[in-house]
Amino acid sequence: MTRTGTIYGVGLGPGAPDLMSVRADRIVRGARHIAYFHRSGRVGHARTIVEGLLHPEVSSIAMTYPVTTEIAVDTTDYNQALATFYDHTAAQLIALSQAGEDVVVLCEGDPLFYGSFMHLHVRVAPRARVEIVPGITGMSGCWTVIGEPVTWGDDVLTVIPGTLSESEIVRRLRDTDAAVIMKLGRNLPKVRAALSAAGLSDRAFYVERGTMPGETVMKLGDKADDMAPYFSMIIIHGHGRRPT
Ligand SMILES: C[S@@+](CC[C@H](N)C(=O)[O-])C[C@H]1O[C@@H](n2cnc3c(N)ncnc32)[C@H](O)[C@@H]1O
Repeated sequence: MTRTGTIYGVGLGPGAPDLMSVRADRIVRGARHIAYFHRSGRVGHARTIVEGLLHPEVSSIAMTYPVTTEIAVDTTDYNQALATFYDHTAAQLIALSQAGEDVVVLCEGDPLFYGSFMHLHVRVAPRARVEIVPGITGMSGCWTVIGEPVTWGDDVLTVIPGTLSESEIVRRLRDTDAAVIMKLGRNLPKVRAALSAAGLSDRAFYVERGTMPGETVMKLGDKADDMAPYFSMIIIHGHGRRPT
């Protein structure tokens, strides 16, 4: 009987290669087939993290996003382009596994936390064996480089995508003790306005490329421009119950 392969979704952590788990390191080093997402013309963060760890004869499936910011995410065109792309890449991975090959999908941070891997997972899991290796999330890497506790006692932490409307960001910020605002990029001016409306501008920290080369950490108020790369986030620390 032919052995079927396993599709691994391996979390690589927030950026620094030595922040990946022992299990992730073992699976990545042993891989004969890897797959990773990237934007056209870029290597991709997940692939960058594993540079120097791969087997010399590893074969790669570079999964190039058909669109990123060219089309609005709430349009039918965007939805169709991405759905077709995920269907196609999932079929490639399933074919490999049916041929008896294991394939390792490289995932920045944790695969099941706002990760592109999830779109493959829902497609391949009914038809192939899948194993997921958790990773340290980007937000964990970022609050660690700030070096302040993020949640105390009964604090509620809310994770807010910067893609939400300003009014929705304000509503969520008013109803939480601590917050992480991800996916900044071109949303930074809107997020700044929401923080101001919620009275939180003075408590906001900005982290760019946390734990990666080029890491930047500062109070948001000290950031003079509104330029934020994709790998950036804002963190508001909780100040909840604790023994004093
Ligand atoms: C699609 S989500 C991927 C999250 C990832 N799966 C994780 O576990 O962190 C991408 C967003 O995560 C945040 N992010 C992830 N890693 C980061 C890092 N090292 N530094 C700053 N932001 C990061 C950014 O806000 C970015 O827009």
